[in-house]
Amino acid sequence: MQLRKIKKIQDAEKIAAGEVVERPANVVKELIENSIDAGSQEIRLIVKKAGKALIQIIDDGIGIPPDDIEFAFERHTSSKIRSIEDLDNLHTLGFRGEALASIAAVSQVEIISRTEEKDLGIQLFIEGGKITKRKEISCPIGTNVKVKNIFYNIPARQKFLKSDSTELGHITDIMQRYALAYPDIHFIYRHNDLDILNCPPNDLKTTVFHVYGKSNAKFMEPINYSEQDIKISGLLGHPQISKKNRNYSSLFINRRYVISDLLFRAIQEAYKGVLMIGKHPFFILNIELDPSVIDFNVHPKKLHIRFERDEYVYNRVYNIIRGFIEENFIIKEAKYISTELELFIPGKESDLIKENTHELEEIKRPIKEIRERKKDKSTSKEFLNEKGELIDETVQLHLTDNIIGEEETM
Ligand SMILES: Nc1ncnc2c1ncn2[C@@H]1O[C@H](COP(=O)(O)OP(=O)(O)OP(=O)(O)O)[C@@H](O)[C@H]1O
Ligand SMILES: [Mg+2]
Repeated sequence: MQLRKIKKIQDAEKIAAGEVVERPANVVKELIENSIDAGSQEIRLIVKKAGKALIQIIDDGIGIPPDDIEFAFERHTSSKIRSIEDLDNLHTLGFRGEALASIAAVSQVEIISRTEEKDLGIQLFIEGGKITKRKEISCPIGTNVKVKNIFYNIPARQKFLKSDSTELGHITDIMQRYALAYPDIHFIYRHNDLDILNCPPNDLKTTVFHVYGKSNAKFMEPINYSEQDIKISGLLGHPQISKKNRNYSSLFINRRYVISDLLFRAIQEAYKGVLMIGKHPFFILNIELDPSVIDFNVHPKKLHIRFERDEYVYNRVYNIIRGFIEENFIIKEAKYISTELELFIPGKESDLIKENTHELEEIKRPIKEIRERKKDKSTSKEFLNEKGELIDETVQLHLTDNIIGEEETM
């Protein structure tokens, strides 16, 4: 093999940008996070051709000072952290100072931003990372970023983009997650002049209603747990709205959307016994932890995280969620079924009672006894329900009458 001299790679910034920007949805995520960090109350996303032609985010946040605006597009420049030690006390979504530089390296960017202190804002045009024009402009306080023609200067990347519907699906997904993480912010989302989402500031349940519809929202129970080391808030879906995949599981750590196999497993495990085999729980949870025990800097897209003590976090989350599920989806559920049936039973035994004697006896047995039986794995059996689906024995007690034949939307 021939030896080659080590030299600086030309256009290295375009290659590095690929780690942050792989598709339009990554741009959307970075821009939304910047708008949230800027304290915006309204974030408006306008997309053309599934983000391939235009991604525009307009916010009413604090804006970028005129002296800093060019700097914001340089790599490793940020107003959010000053050194690596600050990661131990991270309270912003951004921390690498890389997003705008990466986006600008692979697209045509136009930004307008104004702070409260100034009467005029600055407009900047950037092509492939190079600033081509700057001027003062009259505009509202906040930031308005247009990202046009993504990968216009890297045809090889452009051809790896998927169909409009796939790319749009990814954008919608990220927009919905942030609407759920920040129900106090007004999110507006438009594609090709069609309104896709308009989520005014609300409580989380109303936001779920906007995003997933009434049939899902009404089967979500609020959780609010607070201890010194951990806080868990959000909504846990009733087992009857569980889904075939994890798309409906939204997990936020310190209000950052993350994908954590460890925590997904803890939550799934906590639902054990009330979910049908192969189903995933529907939940929207924000877990607040001390930032010093989490490493957010694992992956360039900031979606994955690492914990200092995996086992501790797993057990804490599992126990809290399990306690909630037992209380709300097992004990209350059994009481509910029991009361309903009592009302239904006339003085003398009917055919219904005969048919359901076994089930009724089960329900009437003290909850404690049922719990203990569940704990004893050796007695737990799996069997097929009337639809031929494999379910756990404990599911029969609470859910057989409740399974709704809802269409999966994803
Ligand atoms: N919408 C916005 N409103 C106000 N300031 C912004 C906005 N977008 C970017 N900025 C400023 O530009 C800087 C650079 O943004 P950029 O997204 O590149 O880096 P970051 O957010 O600091 O870190 P990360 O790369 O992790 O996102 C930010 O630190 C912030 O000061
Ligand atoms: Mg950022």
